[in-house]
Amino acid sequence: MRQIVTTGNGDIDVLKVEARPDPAPGEGEVVIRVRAAGLNFADILARQGLYPDAPPKPCVMGYEVSGVVEAAGEGVNSSLAGKSVVALTRFGGQSDLIAVKATQMFEKPEQLTFEQAAAIPVNYLTAYALLVVMGSLHAGESVLIHNAGGGVGLAALDIAKKIGAETYGTASPGKHRFLKERGLDHPIDYRKQDWAPVLKELTEGRGVDLVIDPIGGAHWKKSYAALRHTGRLGMFGVSTVSANGLAGKLNLLKLVLQTPKFHPFALLNKNRGVFGLNLGHLWHEPEKVAVWMRDLLRGVEEEWIRPHVDQAFAFDDAGKAHRYLEERKNIGKVVLTP
Ligand SMILES: NC(=O)c1ccc[n+]([C@@H]2O[C@H](COP(=O)([O-])OP(=O)(O)OC[C@H]3O[C@@H](n4cnc5c(N)ncnc54)[C@H](OP(=O)(O)O)[C@@H]3O)[C@@H](O)[C@H]2O)c1
Repeated sequence: MRQIVTTGNGDIDVLKVEARPDPAPGEGEVVIRVRAAGLNFADILARQGLYPDAPPKPCVMGYEVSGVVEAAGEGVNSSLAGKSVVALTRFGGQSDLIAVKATQMFEKPEQLTFEQAAAIPVNYLTAYALLVVMGSLHAGESVLIHNAGGGVGLAALDIAKKIGAETYGTASPGKHRFLKERGLDHPIDYRKQDWAPVLKELTEGRGVDLVIDPIGGAHWKKSYAALRHTGRLGMFGVSTVSANGLAGKLNLLKLVLQTPKFHPFALLNKNRGVFGLNLGHLWHEPEKVAVWMRDLLRGVEEEWIRPHVDQAFAFDDAGKAHRYLEERKNIGKVVLTP
């Protein structure tokens, strides 16, 4: 089989497609022939050497796949072979074949292509945990989605629309038309202007009930300041550190120095909540995640979950796919196809 190997820390030239022996399913596992593997921002940060959760290099990244079950191991129903599925993978997804626990796998909705199905697990589970589970977003409330045109951003927009919340979103200006078409009420260009005063004006000084922030560092402080009373801030990423080489390391240092501390009395007196989310630290809670995933897959049937794939890149073009995300060109998901 072939895999996309991140051979070391660096620019896209460290990505190589290499041949490896085929995996065999262990107990409780299936082997999936991958038809599409999701590319996530974490994969970019891992390549840059800025993602502490990444396996030691050389490594094969990939948190999610869609494909067809090729073989079932001991303790797994052998009739699963031949089924089209979508699965969460604890790395290694960017491969022709992957062995994965059957509990991390779900049937692929028929109406989705393999590319669309691979766009669901990470982006939609993250957005679901942020908005529904931890952010407790309600109808009539308001949410600010940072990077609304990205993978998690579009997923959050689908969920917020279903809940019936008013949606505000920051994004590069070229994405605003698409975001409006997808139902975003208030797109904000945060590249050419400061989004905070714009949001303040749009909300008549009140702020919003929920902010989801994947940028990190000083930006978390700014997002916290944009909360209305009883507002919640969900922190779930540090894209601000993204850069190759020394610049990335300096960004990391800046991030650490600028990360705010939230005092309990300040939270209490301002009626605010803060929380963090790392989907990659929930592998020990498969039952919980499965409940969320089933809700999302029902949403596909009911047509309020609409995974949007911007582009599929061949494994051999993995570097181009990384660059596409780094240059902020993607609207929604980028997937890799064998
Ligand atoms: N904690 C978790 O469990 C979890 C799970 C999934 C994702 N995440 C985090 O969520 C964020 C989004 O992830 P994603 O996979 O959906 O990616 P994505 O949003 O599709 O990532 C690319 C987009 O991010 C925006 N962006 C903001 N800062 C950027 C920077 N410094 N460099 C390049 N792009 C930047 C750009 O859009 P605009 O310029 O249009 O804003 C770009 O198009 C990432 O920070 C990721 O690490 C966290």
